[in-house]
Amino acid sequence: MEAPDMLRYRTIPLANGAGAIPAVGFGTLIPDPGATRQAVKTALSVGFRHLDCAERYRNEEAVGDAMQEAMAAGTVSRDQLFVTTKLWNTNHRPERVKPAFEASCRRLQVEYVDCYLIHTPFAFLPGDEQDPRDDRGQVLYDAGVKLVDTWRALEQLVDGGRCRSIGLSDVTLEKLKEIVEAARIKPAVVQVESHPYLPEWELLDYCREQGIVLLAFAALGHGMEPNLLEDPVITAIANRLNKTPAQVALAWAAQRGTAFLTTSVTARRIEQNFDISALPEDAMQQIRDHIGTNIRFNSVVETGVPGFIPRISPPQGGR
Ligand SMILES: NC(=O)c1ccc[n+]([C@@H]2O[C@H](COP(=O)([O-])OP(=O)(O)OC[C@H]3O[C@@H](n4cnc5c(N)ncnc54)[C@H](OP(=O)(O)O)[C@@H]3O)[C@@H](O)[C@H]2O)c1
Repeated sequence: MEAPDMLRYRTIPLANGAGAIPAVGFGTLIPDPGATRQAVKTALSVGFRHLDCAERYRNEEAVGDAMQEAMAAGTVSRDQLFVTTKLWNTNHRPERVKPAFEASCRRLQVEYVDCYLIHTPFAFLPGDEQDPRDDRGQVLYDAGVKLVDTWRALEQLVDGGRCRSIGLSDVTLEKLKEIVEAARIKPAVVQVESHPYLPEWELLDYCREQGIVLLAFAALGHGMEPNLLEDPVITAIANRLNKTPAQVALAWAAQRGTAFLTTSVTARRIEQNFDISALPEDAMQQIRDHIGTNIRFNSVVETGVPGFIPRISPPQGGR
């Protein structure tokens, strides 16, 4: 009898003995709290065990409520869940880190967080306004704090015991190297945009060498144009294997050794996105060798301001 496919249950060990992260993760960047709560409940019921959150998403309470409901219903226990959340740009000053972390724990209704990330390497003017701007609409950055100082404050959270692992998000390879070199506790996770149109092989190689997990966001290309799910290489593999294009893209992400995040408010898609299985090696190779489109959909890595960049039509030179 053929062994059951275990890809959807894959976990990746974290550095510093901080446990293991599920390769398959559900993102909670969903603007409406009611929709968030419903989507998270569905995600937990179909089998997702990693939830990616952020103070910036302003819906941690809704995620917390959904977790509480799932736990009360016996769907999951806290120790089966992996909860990631993120420090926002306005809280980079070291003295603001612990209060921000504790506020996230309170909203999420958790005693501890499995992974705490610095959401972006850009410090904004400290304060309660998440998007501080001047009169001309320009972002107000904070020149008074360095990323490494914020990192030291995250290390102290690990020492405090309520934060099991720490990491970075939306960093370049250069920035990551700086922190790795300066760190007492090295980053366990780096969350960046990655999908077959932005494979980030160089970053992934470095992460592998350093024992850092690359956590890919927008694993389906955020459903934007040019649409990864309509790419002829992906759709041909999907047809051949009797899977959906989304299942092909997500299996590729887990199988090449990254953890990934995907999001949907549609129950049948949430179910489909967990129901992945391993691709044959030739399909993995085709995705690597035959997809020529290279595109970043989210500009956050450049400015610290989150946002997917709408495109009307595929750029010149794309496939
Ligand atoms: N660190 C950062 O700066 C950062 C930035 C962005 C995102 N993230 C994290 O990464 C998570 C995932 O990012 P993402 O929202 O871009 O993920 P994604 O899964 O690439 O894109 C989500 C979009 O794809 C659609 N979709 C989902 N499953 C599908 C399927 N099976 N078939 C067809 N379309 C499908 C969804 O539509 P419906 O909802 O309508 O079904 C939604 O429009 C976020 O929730 C967040 O946690 C982090």
